Amino acid sequence: MKGLFASLLAVSLLAPAALAQGTARPDAAALYAKYCAECHGKGRLGGVGPALLPGNLRRLHKKRAAKVIARGRVSTQMPAFGDKLGEAEISALVDYIYTPLPRMPVWGKKEIEASRHIPVDVDYSVTKPQFGADPLNLFVVVESGDHHVSILDGDTFRTLARFRSRYALHGGPKFTPDGRYVFFQSRDGWITKYDLYTLDVVAEARAGINTRNIAISADGAVIAVANYLPHNLVLLSADDLSVVKIIPAISADGTSSRVAAVYQARPRHSFVATLKDAPEFWEISTDPKRKEALYEVRRLKLPAIVDDFFFDQSYRHMLGASRDLKGAIVLDVDTGTVIRRLDLPGLPHLGSGITWTWQGRPVMATPHLGEGRISIIAMDTWEVVKTLKTPGPGFFLRSHENTPYAWADVFFGPNKDKMLVIDKRSLEIVKVLNYAPGKTVAHVEFDRHGKHALISVWEQDGAVLVVDANTFEIVKRLPMKKPVGKYNVFNKITFSSGTSH
Ligand code: HEC
Repeated sequence: MKGLFASLLAVSLLAPAALAQGTARPDAAALYAKYCAECHGKGRLGGVGPALLPGNLRRLHKKRAAKVIARGRVSTQMPAFGDKLGEAEISALVDYIYTPLPRMPVWGKKEIEASRHIPVDVDYSVTKPQFGADPLNLFVVVESGDHHVSILDGDTFRTLARFRSRYALHGGPKFTPDGRYVFFQSRDGWITKYDLYTLDVVAEARAGINTRNIAISADGAVIAVANYLPHNLVLLSADDLSVVKIIPAISADGTSSRVAAVYQARPRHSFVATLKDAPEFWEISTDPKRKEALYEVRRLKLPAIVDDFFFDQSYRHMLGASRDLKGAIVLDVDTGTVIRRLDLPGLPHLGSGITWTWQGRPVMATPHLGEGRISIIAMDTWEVVKTLKTPGPGFFLRSHENTPYAWADVFFGPNKDKMLVIDKRSLEIVKVLNYAPGKTVAHVEFDRHGKHALISVWEQDGAVLVVDANTFEIVKRLPMKKPVGKYNVFNKITFSSGTSH
């Protein structure tokens, strides 16, 4: 009896303790408030450190997030918590930061205006660049490895400036029509205006919490910001980044949605956008001559959600794709009707499409993210005229009016170090280049004359390779920290057909 009683007692005494140790979860919200909030913000919206929300962290694996928390990040302000927090606590924190917020955070006019600041006034008396280089042949290089931007002289490849950017810039920067100012956008919604004549940041504002991309109006007066969080499209003055208008992304049937992407349709004097969670296309007029329609949304219903798209040179037709579509559609933007469906398996990446003239016809080429192929589509009939097999899926394509070649990377898979050269006349792959065996080699950009191609060695200790576009020889190697994108001012402001916009 005594023995049984004793063991029962032991069990009942043990049980709560075992529970507390074995199955009870650490209180992640309390841990967050204690250790993380001072830098990442009380509501996880960011501060000194980036926003910690599932949409913002999409590109970071949970395992890697746990490693960052345990070990910190060298030479940044992110401390190591491995000695303060146990494995269970770190794992609870990881789950916590990948959990959506219980309520949609408020980030409206008041919050944007409060975030807005002018580090250096624009010096309007300056009308020329304050350095001896062709201002239209500058390259803006985004180095995501240490969150910096380098400005390169596109003739000498000298670095004119290098400055710290906001955390995780993404999407292409946008330039004013005269090429003087460039606007950057960060994952966490920061918009930075930079003066390429004085080499200064001249305005900043946080237009959203998780941002997809930005566009600039044809006259250079307005910046459109496509937000995932909150669900809206924000229009800012390109002069001082003050709020012009906030358009909630609510579809015609009332669905609240992320904005998939926004672009400028220059010949139409409008912004064009699609919604990520509703089958809708938007056109927003920026034509100052049509006052009654200024910044009004014209909606077109789509047969399916489109989150990746491309326009022909006239912007009359949109080629659109998404995972849901299993192919692509051609939308006549004037009439709102789908005029064609294309069978394009393997996830085309229309956003990086480029165009040229082939046998007197306008063609566009697109890589595919899901398969090793490049599709070449005639834009007069919207037929696939050629499918090139590649040694793996690619991400970017680039060419220039002054070169007969288009360059394509093989971004995914074991051949990520290869660069393919396509002859725009024969539509054949005529060369396979391998500049940095074993490394990811991607994203080509030409100088304004099409003489040199700049290629990224897309690694933490990477480089920009300057290659002669005719001989394919490396003429210069510029060490860079993961240079994820390079943008030539002239090619961007002239809407060169060899680059995406
Ligand atoms: C003293 C400020 C500070 C504190 C405290 C802090 N962080 Fe950070 N954290 C940062 C900074 C700054 C970065 C960006 C580092 C970089 O440049 O890569 C960062 C990055 C991160 C990242 C990587 C985000 C990404 O997008 O790659 C995670 C995850 C993270 N922190 C989680 C936490 C958690 C969880 C805590 C609390 C246990 C915490 N941090 C506490 C400053 C801080």
